[in-house]
Amino acid sequence: MGKIRIVETASYVPSKTVSNDELSHLMDTSDEWISARTGIKRRHISIGENTSDLCTKVAQRLLDQSGWSAESLDMIIVATMSPDSYTPSTAAIVQGNIAASKAFCFDISAACSGFVYGLDVAARFLAGKKAMRTMLIGGEVLSKVIDWQDRSTAVLFGDGAAGVLLENKQTAASEILASVLKTYGTQHDKLAAGKTMPLSEFPPKESTVLHPFEMDGQAVYKFATHAVPESINEACDQAEISVEDVDLFVLHQANARIVKAISKRMKQPQDKFPINIAEYGNTSAASEPLLLDELVKKEQLKRGQIVVLSGFGGGLTVGTQVIKF
Ligand code: ACO
Repeated sequence: MGKIRIVETASYVPSKTVSNDELSHLMDTSDEWISARTGIKRRHISIGENTSDLCTKVAQRLLDQSGWSAESLDMIIVATMSPDSYTPSTAAIVQGNIAASKAFCFDISAACSGFVYGLDVAARFLAGKKAMRTMLIGGEVLSKVIDWQDRSTAVLFGDGAAGVLLENKQTAASEILASVLKTYGTQHDKLAAGKTMPLSEFPPKESTVLHPFEMDGQAVYKFATHAVPESINEACDQAEISVEDVDLFVLHQANARIVKAISKRMKQPQDKFPINIAEYGNTSAASEPLLLDELVKKEQLKRGQIVVLSGFGGGLTVGTQVIKF
């Protein structure tokens, strides 16, 4: 895909945390069940901040870290399944908040694959020189679309945002070596949130309501453990490297068991698959950039290393990039 470089990474999570024990006072669940089935210990929950607020905090951090001015941005993309509204896009709200007046903006809806879908789209714009400086953020306030009575989904998710600055720099050593995206629309009903219904009569008797999160957990589990290794193998083939050459696999953090099953299936050591789900739960489009930022800040991911980003989620969607960081 050419010399597309990740210039900076940044993240922001709301300060309020909710532990598994706290949830067990609200519903029939336990720390034991949640920890054993998912690896989650707590999640950050937003009180009073919407998705655009979290993303704006990330945007400001990215600008502060890089020294780039807001006016120098050509494009802002937000990947989210929990936007502030149908319209305007969350990206447009962020653009207004940071006064990035030159940037054109849009959201990407690919659930937990949103960040990797966004990275592919951004890279194509950058490669075509339609935008030279891009901000890509994955941000979610999933707590507002969750049915807090439904223990089968409520314990899994958390709120947060994280993102990257990207540029097209032909002289850079970093580049996106390969990108593979796939969608399995026949399985669209396996994971849904915010479903709307058309009117059944006119004038309507009731106002329309948004449906909270619904998921066939086992179907998604099965999908992820098969589709993600397939996607990674295809991306590595495209990049003309072997999976052994990959230093780190930054996978969507939906469930620690899924990540471990994928490392086993790919016959790759588990320490190449960092997991931070204990702290955040599943933050959908934010999960990969959150982990990426953590690895960069802890200097566990260094320039020149090969990192694979792979996401999966509603759609059903799956996507992978092989990046020379
Ligand atoms: N606490 C206690 N018990 C629970 C809970 C809970 N929070 N939730 C479900 N149970 C019970 C069920 O009722 C069931 O009880 P039963 O045996 O008496 O019927 C039992 O636990 C087992 O339930 P399963 O659904 O079979 O549990 P499973 O081992 O499949 O784990 C889980 C469920 C964690 C959801 C798993 O299937 C999973 O991780 N799937 C992938 C989900 C995922 O990745 N989703 C995100 C996709 S990304 C995106 O796009 C947002």
